[in-house]
Amino acid sequence: MELKDKIDLKNLPKHVAIIMDGNGRWAKQQGKARVFGHKNGVQSVREVTEAGAELGIQYMTLYAFSTENWNRPRFEVNALMTLLVTTIRKEIATLNKNNIRLRTIGNTQMLPKAAQRELEEAIESTKDNNRMTLILALSYSSKSEIIAAVQSIAKQHKAGHLPIENIDESSISKALYTKDFPDPELMIRTSGESRISNFLLWQLAYAELYFSPVFWPDFRKNHFYEALLNFQLRERRFGRTSEQLDEPS
Ligand code: FPP
Repeated sequence: MELKDKIDLKNLPKHVAIIMDGNGRWAKQQGKARVFGHKNGVQSVREVTEAGAELGIQYMTLYAFSTENWNRPRFEVNALMTLLVTTIRKEIATLNKNNIRLRTIGNTQMLPKAAQRELEEAIESTKDNNRMTLILALSYSSKSEIIAAVQSIAKQHKAGHLPIENIDESSISKALYTKDFPDPELMIRTSGESRISNFLLWQLAYAELYFSPVFWPDFRKNHFYEALLNFQLRERRFGRTSEQLDEPS
């Protein structure tokens, strides 16, 4: 039996978030420059996107570039931006063919103009697709996102639109970049690191975390299926007891 066939399609996470980590170490292992790792990471992006869409995952968020990544050597940042532009340009047709909608989260105003234009075009061209939404986190940091949300809520309050006692989970969720998407139920991080690294801190409150030892450029469909099978073994209690989960609601 193939790994894929063991997955219970009725118990899939609606939204999977992925920290694609280990490109640099993968390249170094082979005596190559870090950028070689990023280039090879694009194939893994294709694989998980295709695997997710084939199974019926509705939302997939990929952490492609963090706010902190701007501090990397100029050469590496430029290479990543160029890779982003060329990849998006090359993949628009495939996204449309597979009925996948592209969206971004993050402070994308910080990206070079060419990357912003390419992304806008891809978002516009795929906006009516409804099989899966692929969300790229670009120039993203969760703390900045939360700061922007607090500022927006303070403005709404000051303008008289939001009394303090009405500030609740929903008003905060609506002020985040992710307002149009459900929270991820599963977060995968590759490369053996077990950290969240400023990624979706609010949204991952109840997510199952899965850490794979595989470096991102080696991550293939079967690794993704393993993460989903592991997710399906877990009991999601949301603060309740196991016994409560067995009771009819
Ligand atoms: C982390 O590895 C990876 C990144 C910072 C960039 C991820 C980008 C891609 C996979 C390519 C482009 C993606 C799209 C969506 C077009 P790292 O450099 O932190 O590796 P290290 O931890 O081994 O140094």
